[in-house]
Amino acid sequence: MPIPLYQIVRYPAPALANPTNPVITGGLGLERIVKRMVPTMRAVDGVGLASNQVGLSLSLATIEYRPRQQRDAPERVPLHVIVNPVILESSVEVSELQEGCLSCPGIELVVPRSTRIVVRFQNLTGQTVTETVSGFKARIYQHEIDHLNGQTILDQARGQRAIIAAYRAHPARFANGKQ
Ligand code: NI
Repeated sequence: MPIPLYQIVRYPAPALANPTNPVITGGLGLERIVKRMVPTMRAVDGVGLASNQVGLSLSLATIEYRPRQQRDAPERVPLHVIVNPVILESSVEVSELQEGCLSCPGIELVVPRSTRIVVRFQNLTGQTVTETVSGFKARIYQHEIDHLNGQTILDQARGQRAIIAAYRAHPARFANGKQ
């Protein structure tokens, strides 16, 4: 029997605006959740999915990136799960790139991100990992960790205030392509 997909919650759902709760790793419950999150993320071609995007308040995100087109960032990021992630260091150097978000359909915004971060998280078996992450992977991490802290690209974008205000006022118009 196929695993039912989660429904992805959209701005302005309160789940997106609240920081998620720390998770205790090692339980079967988490595995069940992840087994549903991964196909949910893949079904919509996402590169990351934070638990609060499916309405759960758990400090946990799934991440996977496979370049598809020439213009895509080249570095592949294999499927993995980050639990209770904390960014310990962020480079002063930033890069700017347009980002979309599964929870903010219909808008892409230029978001500055540190090009290199040091992040600590747990994997599903409860091991603590400290890793230096750079490039597109660092961007994905920052985007997903923002979600887990109750923030989206609407909070993190640089400038673009008028379009963000318009989005916040009428997100459905953007999602339907009628802005
Ligand atoms: Ni997102």
